[in-house]
Amino acid sequence: MGSSRRGRLVAGTALAIVLALAAWTLLGPDRVMRGRVSGVKLLGLDRPFPEGGRYPGDPYVGSHVCAECHPGETATHAGSGHARTLRPAGDRELARRLDGMDVEDPERPGVRWRYGYREGELHVERTEGRRVEDLVIQYAFGSGHHATTFLTVVDPAFPEVLEHRLTYFAREQSMGLTPGHRAGVGMAGVGERGGALIGDDARNCFGCHTTQLSAPPGRSIDPATMIPTVSCERCHGPGRAHHDAARRGSQAGAPELRLPFGPGRYSTDALLRLCGDCHRHPSKIDPARIRPDNPNLARFQPVGLLQSRCLIESGGSLDCVTCHDPHARASSDHAKYRAVCIACHAAPDGGCPKSPAGDCVECHMPRLDAGQHVLFADHWIRATRPEMRQPPSPELRPDLRRLR
Ligand code: HEC
Ligand code: HEC
Ligand code: HEC
Ligand code: HEC
Ligand code: HEC
Ligand code: HEC
Ligand code: HEC
Repeated sequence: MGSSRRGRLVAGTALAIVLALAAWTLLGPDRVMRGRVSGVKLLGLDRPFPEGGRYPGDPYVGSHVCAECHPGETATHAGSGHARTLRPAGDRELARRLDGMDVEDPERPGVRWRYGYREGELHVERTEGRRVEDLVIQYAFGSGHHATTFLTVVDPAFPEVLEHRLTYFAREQSMGLTPGHRAGVGMAGVGERGGALIGDDARNCFGCHTTQLSAPPGRSIDPATMIPTVSCERCHGPGRAHHDAARRGSQAGAPELRLPFGPGRYSTDALLRLCGDCHRHPSKIDPARIRPDNPNLARFQPVGLLQSRCLIESGGSLDCVTCHDPHARASSDHAKYRAVCIACHAAPDGGCPKSPAGDCVECHMPRLDAGQHVLFADHWIRATRPEMRQPPSPELRPDLRRLR
């Protein structure tokens, strides 16, 4: 073979490679991968709580040990939203159902989202023109009773979190915009992939859906020590001393067995503050928003109940536990709630002038649209007000996710 022929061959091959590369750059997909690829494992869900604690002197024991002596509360709690409100996305049955689903962006023409379930992980591919981004979805927030929002931790130390743009809504059985991400709402940090939450916003998001964010408590989001979901020790406090005393044979009534929110040993105020830590307490929201014509307040049950004359004028004998088992989902049996109303509003004197035989809840605790795709029962119990069923006035319309 002559050297000039070989030279032409080499040049030709090189040219072909350059052309192929150019074509690939111009026409082929531009792939970007984001999010840590390591699967998330969480204490109590995928891993046992370490017997000696997560560190020396750890006051928490993990809820699984409570089951042995409190099987009733444990069984009820297991079926509640509290017990399932934060899980690794790949663990959810939903991840398998979403596999292969391809949806158009609700607002941006030409943008598509395609879900894939691979090796225990949920991914979403965002395609815009030739640009394809593969995002690993780490966490699923929400039990799924109403909605599931996805999160990816971008930087666990700072921390920074991506709240994904699309949320799964159970009622519609489909993906829709995450509340607050609509164009024009003006929520800070919202971009084409979703919302960037940094610092306290990222911590608070996990904070209301966990028992403890990290141990020892710090600034970061630490999946290795996080106690996920609203579990026993979120409401009753760390259980190690209680557990050890019970093991030593302490009997019912012994002071060393007492825990926060043991029956009959807490005030209405303390209970409303406990539930209000997450369901919102008036001390946590702008007083200017606490107005009778603000339907968004329906989402904040402690705020509503604290405005009601039923609570204000009943001398501290009404709180969340009067109507709800704190270990269970809210019952949908209105006859049970009616019995609670009647216990205070007995006919003929205290009864209803309008409909004493009717469903009290239907008229006095109507379900209102708080702009979250989900209707909430108004806990500001009062005489019905037709104006509440109208769309909110413009100054009340901003999405309340901002209040987190
Ligand atoms: C650490 C935060 C936190 C605390 C404290 C808390 N909750 Fe919740 N609660 C949540 C979250 C998060 C959900 C949503 C669960 C889900 O994903 O379905 C929820 C859901 C509920 C539901 C179920 C709603 C439904 O769909 O039926 C009820 C009822 C409820 N909480 C009542 C209470 C009561 C009563 C208290 C006080 C005794 C309380 N919660 C304290 C965070 C909390
Ligand atoms: C101040 C506490 C608080 C913060 C902060 C918070 N949540 Fe929640 N979240 C709740 C409570 C309470 C509920 C249950 C009632 C409701 O929907 O308001 C809930 C419900 C939900 C649900 C619906 C669950 C269902 O199926 O009923 C999702 C999804 C959710 N939160 C995701 C998030 C995400 C994602 C963040 C952070 C970006 C966040 N939450 C921040 C308290 C909080
Ligand atoms: C959302 C907050 C919350 C969570 C989560 C929670 N509890 Fe409770 N628990 C309460 C409150 C409030 C009471 C008091 C109820 C009352 O006075 O009727 C209570 C009462 C109890 C009691 C006393 C019952 C009695 O009447 O003697 C036990 C035992 C108990 N809880 C165990 C548990 C266990 C075990 C878990 C986890 C599986 C758990 N709790 C999760 C709020 C909670
Ligand atoms: C080895 C058995 C045992 C274990 C494990 C145990 N408890 Fe108890 N618990 C008891 C006994 C005994 C009492 C007192 C009798 C009673 O009131 O039922 C009690 C009472 C309680 C009460 C009421 C406290 C009060 O002030 O009146 C709560 C709340 C409670 N336990 C929660 C928990 C939680 C949460 C866990 C898990 C972290 C747990 N227990 C683990 C045995 C146990
Ligand atoms: C712990 C006792 C108690 C319970 C439980 C209770 N209420 Fe009341 N309620 C009161 C008191 C006290 C007042 C104020 C005096 C009055 O009107 O009787 C009141 C007032 C009202 C008012 C008039 C409020 C206003 O601002 O005009 C309505 C309507 C009402 N209750 C409906 C209900 C309904 C419906 C329920 C059940 C979902 C209920 N209440 C449960 C004690 C209670
Ligand atoms: C007078 C009775 C009553 C009291 C007190 C009460 N609730 Fe409710 N709650 C209801 C009713 C009724 C519903 C709607 C049930 C249904 O229709 O499915 C409900 C539903 C809920 C839901 C589910 C979301 C929704 O709106 O359907 C949550 C969460 C909740 N309540 C939390 C609380 C908290 C927290 C407190 C204490 C601040 C509280 N509730 C006090 C009667 C009550
Ligand atoms: C069909 C709707 C409807 C039902 C069902 C209903 N109410 Fe009413 N209720 C009203 C209306 C409307 C008013 C205001 C009447 C007025 O101001 O003339 C009212 C007023 C009241 C008041 C205030 C009375 C006063 O003196 O100011 C109480 C208390 C009350 N209802 C309790 C109840 C209870 C308890 C139940 C269930 C047993 C119930 N209501 C069922 C519509 C209803």
